[in-house]
Amino acid sequence: MSGEMSAIGSFILALLLAGYLGQQFLPPPKPKVVGLDLGTTFCSVGVFQAGTGEVEVLGDAEGRKSIPSVVSFTATGIHVGHDVQDLIDSNPQNTIYDAKRFIGKVFEPDVLIAESARYPFQVMNNNGSAEFLITTNQTYTVTPEFIGSQLLLKMRKMAEEQLGVPIHKAVISVPAEFDEMQRNYTIRAANMAGLDILRVINEPTAAAMAYGLHKVDVSNVLVVDLGGGTLDVSLLNKQGGMFLTRAMAGNNKLGGQDFSQRLFQHATERVRQQYGVTPSLKEDIHRLRQAVEEAKLNLTVASSTQLRVPLRLLTQGPRGPQETPIIFQEPISRERFEELNADLFQKILTPIKTVLEEGHLSKEDVDEVVLVGGSTRIPRIRRLIAEYFGKEPNTSVDPDLAVVTGVAIQAGIMGGSWPLQVSALEIPNHHLRKRNFS
Ligand SMILES: *[C@@H]1O[C@H](CO)[C@@H](O)[C@H](O)[C@H]1NC(C)=O
Ligand SMILES: *[C@@H]1O[C@H](CO)[C@@H](O)[C@H](O)[C@H]1NC(C)=O
Ligand SMILES: *[C@@H]1O[C@H](CO)[C@@H](O)[C@H](O)[C@H]1NC(C)=O
Ligand SMILES: *[C@@H]1O[C@H](CO)[C@@H](O)[C@H](O)[C@H]1NC(C)=O
Ligand SMILES: *[C@@H]1O[C@H](CO)[C@@H](O)[C@H](O)[C@H]1NC(C)=O
Repeated sequence: MSGEMSAIGSFILALLLAGYLGQQFLPPPKPKVVGLDLGTTFCSVGVFQAGTGEVEVLGDAEGRKSIPSVVSFTATGIHVGHDVQDLIDSNPQNTIYDAKRFIGKVFEPDVLIAESARYPFQVMNNNGSAEFLITTNQTYTVTPEFIGSQLLLKMRKMAEEQLGVPIHKAVISVPAEFDEMQRNYTIRAANMAGLDILRVINEPTAAAMAYGLHKVDVSNVLVVDLGGGTLDVSLLNKQGGMFLTRAMAGNNKLGGQDFSQRLFQHATERVRQQYGVTPSLKEDIHRLRQAVEEAKLNLTVASSTQLRVPLRLLTQGPRGPQETPIIFQEPISRERFEELNADLFQKILTPIKTVLEEGHLSKEDVDEVVLVGGSTRIPRIRRLIAEYFGKEPNTSVDPDLAVVTGVAIQAGIMGGSWPLQVSALEIPNHHLRKRNFS
């Protein structure tokens, strides 16, 4: 009798074991929820791969891991991301970028007029909401959320192509300062792209999650996000495994383009010293700006670089102004670049000090500092922040992909593939205002 029992017992055990082993060797399920970073200048999409336990940022067919947040309208259709490259110069009035700055916001009429003047496209006022005027062989307006939906649709298609499954669910990040209406319109943009948003999380929280800070013992995390045109600093406080944004401050007129501008002015001045005139032709200025941008990137890894730009300068000849072709060559050291920007770099500390004051913390109370945004690659900026806090910031995740990485982790949690079933990693803070210095 007992022998029989044990035979049946072993049989069941074997079945269970086979099932267990089978499960181990079954390919892991495809992720069904994607993480989306709808950025002002770039967008990315990522997934949490249950099999490897790693986040994968999904690329397009060419392997590019982010797409420019640009949508261009022509008589033949709508072009998105990298496809717009050739249209920026030829179709500027119908090529919309920076739409995120307008989404879900109500503007005073004069503010909107001033904003419109900054762009080559026309920003219209529809009862306080911004709309973009498109003139191809028809004339119509599109909303900022429609622009967002086209970018999200592109990312959804990229994800579907890479994963080989249809995608209908996502988690999306927004700036911590976004109010309820801006969040709602961001969700609406995703809905228009056929995506159901399971959760909206703050970008700084996502960045902290990219470093696994939701899993380790920290209480205060400071996130510095320095992009092309804006600086955002957030002080996060972790309570019972959840992040609460304690304070926010920033400078919406400080970023990579300002550092490039200083280098451009320097280069222009060097041309004047060597040739007596500054570049005036539109193509020359464009080429010089491109060279300066490349030099700035090189100086994040190299201690010096060389500007080398063919120019056609308008000089005074015997029979009036004439075009003189030259090759402008100028070495640029990292030190020189840092000198040119010393005062701007110093400004980064202002909002950092403010969030600490508003959060009633001293810099020693900050457990981890997380750097996000392409401009935090600049070595001097990293050193400035490290020196201020007396500790190294977290920089091991690509600063352009830190947010999407964190959003993808949250998507993994929502999709149920995370080993620890945590349902919420963020406490909403409805009473917080961002302080701006600019
Ligand atoms: C605009 O041009 C496109 C392509 O040439 C054409 O398919 C479309 O019908 C035109 N629309 C109007 C309203 O003329
Ligand atoms: C314009 O907006 C205001 C408040 O933002 C609203 O009360 C009003 O109904 C709107 N008017 C139209 C025509 O949509
Ligand atoms: C945002 O959406 C929610 C849910 O649809 C709604 O209850 C809320 O009133 C909306 N808030 C704003 C400010 O539009
Ligand atoms: C900048 O870096 C790139 C890639 O490392 C290199 O190909 C290029 O020659 C560098 N440019 C200068 C001006 O140093
Ligand atoms: C970055 O974050 C991790 C937590 O995942 C921590 O262990 C590490 O020490 C941090 N700091 C640096 C400088 O990498």
